[in-house]
Amino acid sequence: MMMEKQPDDKKVLLRSIPDMHTQEVVTYYEDTGLDYGQWSREYNMHFGYYRFPMNPFGREKMLDKMNQVVIDNLGLTGEDKLVYDLGCGLAAPCRSFAKRYPDKTIKGISIVKWQIDKANELNRKAGLDNKIELIEGDYTQLPFEDNSADSVYALESSCHCPGLDKNDFIKEMMRVLKPGKRFVIVDGFVKRNPETFRGLLRYCYNTIIKGWALPSFPHTGLLIEAIKGHRGENIELKDMSFRVAPTAMQSPFTVVYFLVKKLLQGEKLNAVRIGHLKSCLLGLVLGMFRGSFSYCMVTGIKKC
Ligand SMILES: C[S@@+](CC[C@H](N)C(=O)[O-])C[C@H]1O[C@@H](n2cnc3c(N)ncnc32)[C@H](O)[C@@H]1O
Repeated sequence: MMMEKQPDDKKVLLRSIPDMHTQEVVTYYEDTGLDYGQWSREYNMHFGYYRFPMNPFGREKMLDKMNQVVIDNLGLTGEDKLVYDLGCGLAAPCRSFAKRYPDKTIKGISIVKWQIDKANELNRKAGLDNKIELIEGDYTQLPFEDNSADSVYALESSCHCPGLDKNDFIKEMMRVLKPGKRFVIVDGFVKRNPETFRGLLRYCYNTIIKGWALPSFPHTGLLIEAIKGHRGENIELKDMSFRVAPTAMQSPFTVVYFLVKKLLQGEKLNAVRIGHLKSCLLGLVLGMFRGSFSYCMVTGIKKC
């Protein structure tokens, strides 16, 4: 008699943990999506970059400056044609790219369908929909050919990948990148294992990762090892914590203003939106633990 094959419990568990996490990410961005409009009228979903003599209170300019810094670091030449934005959000960085390089193609990917629909609408309004292609998909299983991109970047999105080394994301990013071409990753990073965090640091870290639907922030050393393991070289890590400080300092004020506005409008916020706001408030405190946490840019190329 043929025995019916039973599912292997361990395999079911391993499959279901990432699925649960993906669902958390989708719910988080569906619930908080429009709240990002309070942070940036262009829907930039990241911190801004300050450089003297910019106005340290001009948030939108600093947010776009971050896009420009990422784009500058792609090191594109006239021959480069195709760039991927891995974790594109509402595609503000893609729009900056398309304005700067109208002759090149940018493809953005996000796991949240709502973001792709809304971003397509924003791209149309900006007259850039024919320059930007957006795809609903998972950056750990990219729907792109091997060695197809002239450059790739991930702006505050690698943090959503499971594991301190973000290996599943790195592996795919390096697979689709052409040999000899550059990648840019910008994100918040831990500098030591978060299991060792104690007291206020532990409280802030755990509250923030829960509120922003992150399994963990990437770990500087482990992420770099993962990149090297997937043919990465000439890897550079730049600490940009002081560059993002002026926008990070605005975050608590924006949260309080937003809460008062919602209170006066009589709007009730659900647990996901409250968790997000709490994380925005605590982000500044986490950033003060300089020995444990930094905001960094990692760049490098894929070995030929
Ligand atoms: C904080 S937002 C940053 C968005 C954009 N890079 C920006 O700076 O405006 C993080 C983005 O990563 C995307 N993301 C998270 N996990 C993903 C995954 N597994 N595959 C593709 N995108 C993902 C989210 O949907 C979201 O768009």
